Amino acid sequence: MSGVSMAVDLGGIRMANPIGTASGTFGCGRQFEGFYDVGRLGAITTKGCSAEPWNGNPAPRVCEVTSGIMNSVGLQNPGVREFVAHEGAYLSGLAERGCAVICQVVGHSIEEYASALELYEELAPFAAGFEVNISCPNVAAGGLAMGSTPERAAEVMRALRPLTRRPVLVKMAPSRVPETARALEDAGADALSLINTIPAMSIDVRTRRSRLSRPTAGLSGPLVHPIAVRMVWEAHNAVGIPINGIGGVMSGQDAAEFILAGATTVSVGTANLVQPDSAPRILAELERWAESQGVHDINELIGAFEC
Ligand SMILES: Cc1cc2nc3c(=O)[nH]c(=O)nc-3n(C[C@H](O)[C@H](O)[C@H](O)COP(=O)(O)O)c2cc1C
Repeated sequence: MSGVSMAVDLGGIRMANPIGTASGTFGCGRQFEGFYDVGRLGAITTKGCSAEPWNGNPAPRVCEVTSGIMNSVGLQNPGVREFVAHEGAYLSGLAERGCAVICQVVGHSIEEYASALELYEELAPFAAGFEVNISCPNVAAGGLAMGSTPERAAEVMRALRPLTRRPVLVKMAPSRVPETARALEDAGADALSLINTIPAMSIDVRTRRSRLSRPTAGLSGPLVHPIAVRMVWEAHNAVGIPINGIGGVMSGQDAAEFILAGATTVSVGTANLVQPDSAPRILAELERWAESQGVHDINELIGAFEC
């Protein structure tokens, strides 16, 4: 145990420490219990769920590229009812063990986002808060299209705000960051998550076809990290609400960069697929770094980057 207090508050979601896991890279957490005690994490964010089930895109849906991976999963999910029926008991237990459960909602339209959030509001007392994904590049309607302009992003947030009193995070698209962040804060968002995967392409030159089932897919992993740090810093400079930094975090040092750039919390994504026990290792490394900085509280380091 270090002497540094690691507790943080992400827009009303109280977390024992800043390290969580990113949506879609961690199942619902149960799959990782054989590797470590998931209850030690500050938070988990569940896979994006819609009101009705979605099939996602055809295979192949994941490929490796230099220093990262690309995916075109397309938000395959069983729908909120089925998800809660299967995973609700586990997630309630996880919340009781001190890990904040953040449930992510997706939709093709504002109405569909609202239906998913209303279902969670009714069926998921274990949820500490919700994350609205308006930045998935792998769906034809909704997803990134919802977050592509500050106006559209704010429209979604304004429609969802009256539906719950629990904290609502918005997972922003990786473009026009300061304007979109301000618009979302004005529309009532409690915190912002960024970044989602970055739209990208990978071509098999032998067949001249995409290496995945769609021409474009979402890029993640170490190579997006410096881009994500820049975007977190831009958002931090633009708004007063807290930020959850995501993108290519493989080590405690990567997480520390996000904190210095202005993130209150950090989510681990692709690293979970590389080494299942990445998140607790990153937490231990972050704690050691905070100690080495001579602070008593990790909150003293949020936004402490000096130009
Ligand atoms: C296989 C896979 C599935 C993902 N599914 C989702 C999802 O359902 N919702 C979402 O907001 N982001 C999803 N993401 C994006 C991650 O949550 C994260 O924002 C992104 O991968 C960047 O972080 P990383 O570089 O640490 O992976 C997914 C990423 C991967 C690799």
